[in-house]
Amino acid sequence: MKILLLGSGGREHALAWKLNQSVWTNPLFIAPGNAGTAQCGTNVSLNLSDFDAIAAFCLQEKIEMVVVGPEEPLVKGLYDHFHQHEELKNIYFIGPSKEGARLEGSKAFAKAFMERHNIPTAGYKEFDISNFDEGLKYVNEHPLPVVLKADGLAAGKGVIICNSHIEAVAEFELMLQQNKFGDASKKVVVEEFLDGIELSVFVLTDGKNYVILPEAKDYKRAGEGDRGLNTGGMGAVSPVPFATPGFMHKVEERIIKPTIEGLKKENIDYKGFIFIGLIKVNGQPFVIEYNCRLGDPETEVVIPRLESDLVGLFVATAKQELAGVKLSIDKRSTATVMAVSGGYPGHFERGFPIEGLDQEIPADSLLFHAGTTSKEDEVVTNGGRVLCVTSYGKSVHEAVMKSRAVLDNIEYDGIYYRRDIGYEFAPGFNDE
Ligand code: AMP
Ligand code: GLY
Repeated sequence: MKILLLGSGGREHALAWKLNQSVWTNPLFIAPGNAGTAQCGTNVSLNLSDFDAIAAFCLQEKIEMVVVGPEEPLVKGLYDHFHQHEELKNIYFIGPSKEGARLEGSKAFAKAFMERHNIPTAGYKEFDISNFDEGLKYVNEHPLPVVLKADGLAAGKGVIICNSHIEAVAEFELMLQQNKFGDASKKVVVEEFLDGIELSVFVLTDGKNYVILPEAKDYKRAGEGDRGLNTGGMGAVSPVPFATPGFMHKVEERIIKPTIEGLKKENIDYKGFIFIGLIKVNGQPFVIEYNCRLGDPETEVVIPRLESDLVGLFVATAKQELAGVKLSIDKRSTATVMAVSGGYPGHFERGFPIEGLDQEIPADSLLFHAGTTSKEDEVVTNGGRVLCVTSYGKSVHEAVMKSRAVLDNIEYDGIYYRRDIGYEFAPGFNDE
């Protein structure tokens, strides 16, 4: 099967690595890809906003399956572009319709969807400039902390947790009056703060049926001990020790089933991944957010645990034949540690040669590229998150230690990575 995978991060390298293992894959193209995906297939220089160019490439190469990594093309309607085109509509397409992608693309849409289908989430109200004064009053009287969310995509920066009313009012004004996040903050969701522990659950759905992939936890803060600025993600682990079978049963009954039922009832075309950001509060699950794709770096720990053939799963998804499909999952733990550019998530430079990529990687570790590119004969840094190392272990802690050992042999100007990924699951952390 001729496959085109869209995206260029660590998530896409992990997907390309897995797709490339399938006997069905022949050939695999990745657009635009990175220096790592080039080891799993052929990189193609395509701009993911240029739907006509993507479509033309698919026709020219007789692509039979398109897999979309990032959210942006989905939120902009790439699925619909394919679906409406006579010659493209029979290509298997993994990723939801524009309407389905609103679960990620509009926080107000997602909250209203959860309300309609009784899915547990933080209480909220939405505001725009037309009810601005009412919003100010609401924010001012809201118990602290209060959470403000720009409605649209804001590159992961649109959520602000305010610990004072002065800050909350200022942010509310900045978002609605000063367009702090451009069009994304034309609408603002004001929501209750939930105090608990977070994890991510990944579901692959064909719009009627679903399979649940291993859960994961990511580490968003730049600094050790979960301090410092928010990033795209500095590492991840799977499984999550506090996601007990009893808790996961509640997640499936109260969240996953009503979500899929809701999509069905509302006739939303959805064949792809749903990433559910969850928070566990006093043992009960609540939805923090939906994403219409896999997470990064969660994919780098989830996909290596999947033993089932990914192309087979995608074909079943596209044909709405996921009913009765059982996933085969590696029992071992995985952890990934992300190496980033000096200065990230603030200003950073690109183009530094990466040394140590030719080291012999142990059999239970995998090196995934994120922001890398090839320049002449060298692989150089090309982004904030540069590469990550995933390892398998008997425990999350053992896996982290193995990844760190590989990263210790990688060098580039300004390299930084957190040494404490999975710290709360390390032996002795909670011991008095
Ligand atoms: P998001 O951009 O939706 O992923 O939100 C970013 C982060 O903000 C989440 O991962 C949570 O840590 C936090 N967050 C969002 N909403 C809430 C909430 N209602 N209560 C507590 N924390 C929240
Ligand atoms: N790691 C969080 C995300 O992919 O959104």
